[in-house]
Amino acid sequence: MKRRTEQQRDRLAAHVFVCTNDRDSEYACCGDAGADETVDAVKSWLRERNAFWSPIGVSTTDCLALCSEGGTAITIQPRNEWFSDVRPEDVPDLLEAEFGPNAQRLAGDTGQTRD
Ligand code: FES
Repeated sequence: MKRRTEQQRDRLAAHVFVCTNDRDSEYACCGDAGADETVDAVKSWLRERNAFWSPIGVSTTDCLALCSEGGTAITIQPRNEWFSDVRPEDVPDLLEAEFGPNAQRLAGDTGQTRD
């Protein structure tokens, strides 16, 4: 086992987790509410700003307990921000509000920006 905490702290300012859980049941799930398209929208927005994975990570995840027929659940860590009902068309406004128009605002309220 290797502890990689320092490496990841240096590399990542934040991590966007997008629920893509799909379930075969009567209950709503992100997999049925456009999750794949929402993940693509998140990745595209960050790639267009040269911020995909460094400094902002993106991962798909299982259920975040914000299930809805209206869209996908997203959490941004370590900021402890949580969203539900996110549609692909919501992603630019969500990410811009969180990271600034050019993904420059990396440390939340501290004002830290990247070079
Ligand atoms: S299925 Fe996505 S939050 Fe539950």
